[in-house]
Amino acid sequence: MTIQPQATAENTLESGRFLHPFTDFAQYKQTGGRTYVGGDGVYIIDHQGNRLLDGMSGLWCTNLGYSQDSIKQAITAQLDRLPFYNSFFNCTTDITLRLADQLCEALPAGFEHVFFTNSGSEANDTNLRLVHRYFDLLGQPEKKHIIARTNAYHGSTIAGASLGGMKGMHEQMLGLPYVHHVEQPYTFAHLGSLSPEAVGQQAAQSLADKIDSIGADQVAAFIAEPIQGAGGVIIPPDNYWPLIVEICRERDVLIISDEVICGFGRTGQWWGCETFNFEPDLITFAKAVTNGYQPLGGVAISDKIAAILTTEGGEFAHGFTYSGHPVACAAGLATLELYQQSSVLSDVSSTIAPYWSQALAQLADHAIVGEVRTQGMLGALELVKESGTTDRIAPDAAAAVFCRNYAISHGLMIRQVGDGLILSPPLIIQTSEIDQLIMGLEQALDATAAAFGIAS
Ligand SMILES: Cc1ncc(COP(=O)(O)O)c(C=O)c1O
Repeated sequence: MTIQPQATAENTLESGRFLHPFTDFAQYKQTGGRTYVGGDGVYIIDHQGNRLLDGMSGLWCTNLGYSQDSIKQAITAQLDRLPFYNSFFNCTTDITLRLADQLCEALPAGFEHVFFTNSGSEANDTNLRLVHRYFDLLGQPEKKHIIARTNAYHGSTIAGASLGGMKGMHEQMLGLPYVHHVEQPYTFAHLGSLSPEAVGQQAAQSLADKIDSIGADQVAAFIAEPIQGAGGVIIPPDNYWPLIVEICRERDVLIISDEVICGFGRTGQWWGCETFNFEPDLITFAKAVTNGYQPLGGVAISDKIAAILTTEGGEFAHGFTYSGHPVACAAGLATLELYQQSSVLSDVSSTIAPYWSQALAQLADHAIVGEVRTQGMLGALELVKESGTTDRIAPDAAAAVFCRNYAISHGLMIRQVGDGLILSPPLIIQTSEIDQLIMGLEQALDATAAAFGIAS
């Protein structure tokens, strides 16, 4: 791995006028940031020409990497043909309709309708509008409450951030009063005290208790990611999803599977709900639907919900100017074609994901690694002072922050969440590139151990 310079205020291109999302603006003035100017396969290139192996697929978006010419060509061809028309008031574009059809082919059975948005956040707002409308049409208008999970990420609009379980976001806003949070099935946090099954049982029970305390006749839906992504790649124990489904079905509570990260092959199958073998009522998608090349999100609507929405009549008073934007839909169609015509998904399940899982597992023996988790092409490492414990190395996640910064400045893009490191490399990554990623991670772990005085 090449040594890369640390970011400083001096070596960024920026004038300071751009306010970065999820950034400490005051700190940014001191430290500066990194600006990216190029992408090539599974690599990104910063403005100083450094190549970084992208262990995060952009922001869980570029599952097929940065060099997919067919998507780029579809975008420019659509710009030439019809750069924009809206989808309000019974109108739309041909390409929007084609993407809806093709997506339904890729969705689990029983999903024959989609509603497009520009992002995952807007898609989750749309979910709330849809479930409220559904129960209104069924004559159950009191069913308005929504239950989500601690540490979840469902976006950054008011609804998305309310649904999310991120303390730091809630501290800066007034959340929606009808959104509630229950436990996440975070097995590592209970290491040594509860078995994974007991954690799954306890987290599921917290949902049952919450629904029962509000009253099932008031609760519309439970929203969750099959695997919590931004919350730390929290992979639930095997008993969790079957229990959740049982609890929701018994109480007539809809299940929204937020697949903004887990969709499009990330967990090893098309959809995370397929990996965990459950049938949701609504599916949120975004990000990888266009391989990140255009902003697009949406909600896939199960036949049960669509049957009511499409027969009861009355306008659904919701939508966005750019819902079903033709250029974004052209990117989505080209992306779907790549999934359907290439062997990417079968390669992931037969070769790449098993290789990834074994390669990352080698790091479990490292002195500061307390747990390694993988599922499909997701991964997480928990950093600890002593293996076999959950004791952290330093307050304020300082060790994980150091490790992430070291990795980035040595050519490997990874992300830190609390005292953990998370990974989500492009699905098209080759085994030699996985080897390179693991080598970079190991070096970063060694450097972190040394910096915090732990022998590795
Ligand atoms: C699970 C999940 N849902 C929703 C969102 C929000 O998507 P967007 O940033 O496109 O609004 C994200 C973004 O990371 C996500 O991970």
